[in-house]
Amino acid sequence: MKLVGLVGWRGMVGSVLMQRMQEEGDFAHIEPVFFTTSNTGGKAPAMAKNETVLKDATNIDELKRCEIIISCQGGDYTSEVFPKLRAAGWNGYWIDAASTLRMEKDAVIVLDPVNLNVIKDAMAKGVKNFVGGNCTVSCMLMGLGGLFKHDLVEWMTSMTYQAASGGGAQHMRELLTQFGTINAAVRPLLDNPASAILEIDRQVLATQHGYSPDEIKQFGAPLAGNLIPWIDKDLGNGQSKEEWKGGAETNKILGRGLDFGTAAIPVDGLCVRIGAMRCHSQALTIKLKKDVPLDEVNDIIASDNQWVKFVPNTREASVRDLSPAAVTGSLTIPVGRVRKMSMGGEYLSAFTVGDQLLWGAAEPLRRMLRIVLD
Ligand code: HSE
Repeated sequence: MKLVGLVGWRGMVGSVLMQRMQEEGDFAHIEPVFFTTSNTGGKAPAMAKNETVLKDATNIDELKRCEIIISCQGGDYTSEVFPKLRAAGWNGYWIDAASTLRMEKDAVIVLDPVNLNVIKDAMAKGVKNFVGGNCTVSCMLMGLGGLFKHDLVEWMTSMTYQAASGGGAQHMRELLTQFGTINAAVRPLLDNPASAILEIDRQVLATQHGYSPDEIKQFGAPLAGNLIPWIDKDLGNGQSKEEWKGGAETNKILGRGLDFGTAAIPVDGLCVRIGAMRCHSQALTIKLKKDVPLDEVNDIIASDNQWVKFVPNTREASVRDLSPAAVTGSLTIPVGRVRKMSMGGEYLSAFTVGDQLLWGAAEPLRRMLRIVLD
């Protein structure tokens, strides 16, 4: 059985990955080696077989023993350890959740229900670096992949509603703490049905404006009862890095763009952080290459993969099925609000939601492991 190194398995993405690997029986096919950055020599978790002791995640010799390494340890770890490992002659499969290597020429962004052909071509050519995509991009392509596969998309905009978990575990805690502080501040007024709503509103605002630097440490601004229309770095051209990823990664996943000798499909939009926990939602405007009848469009979306759930464009179904609370913890990717827009028959709207810890992070990694093992 292949030795598979697992790094960063205790963090948020890593924990979701471990849970999914257990659910899918992945450990039956591997000999796992658990690495640590803080507890070398400690006891490996119950999934361990013969490798029952935690190994040092910076020890190149220990890492070199593994034929496959999966890292959820983060970008700094990848930047530090990956080049040393390759320089030491390691030729194994590196499967990574971090963005560090995503756009490298010798790396493939993995999302096999959408780009198994790109993955297989790369493996046949000896590519050994496989990286999970940006969560928003992966969730969008899981929902709308059918339209791209049918080469129907001329361009697309994605306006996002991204959850706190995209920032990390501390960000989720900060959001909930802020909600709690707001509730506590207005609790006496809420308990009194005769109190004035505008007074409650004033106190909510005063609380949001009064946060100490510590209370907004992760997001840099209040998120509870608010939104933040910027995610990731400022690229200096008016675009955020998250927005740039939408176009760059979508095309790389699809095997399109200059590196592949084809024209890239323009994908751009505005990325916004909202007070959801772990599901990213996005409103899409799609310019089709031709005026395809709506029932055909619906069929193409619905039949693309087994995880897409086509939500009829009715109020009832949309409210019930197209929300973070409806999707959290599941691999289902609902796509709804699909209709032709008033600009013309080639203009399509859609709304989709995805759990950014599952399809957005952990799931493509464990599926890549299974592809390597097959
Ligand atoms: N960059 C994403 C976000 C997370 O901040 O929501 C993961 O790709």
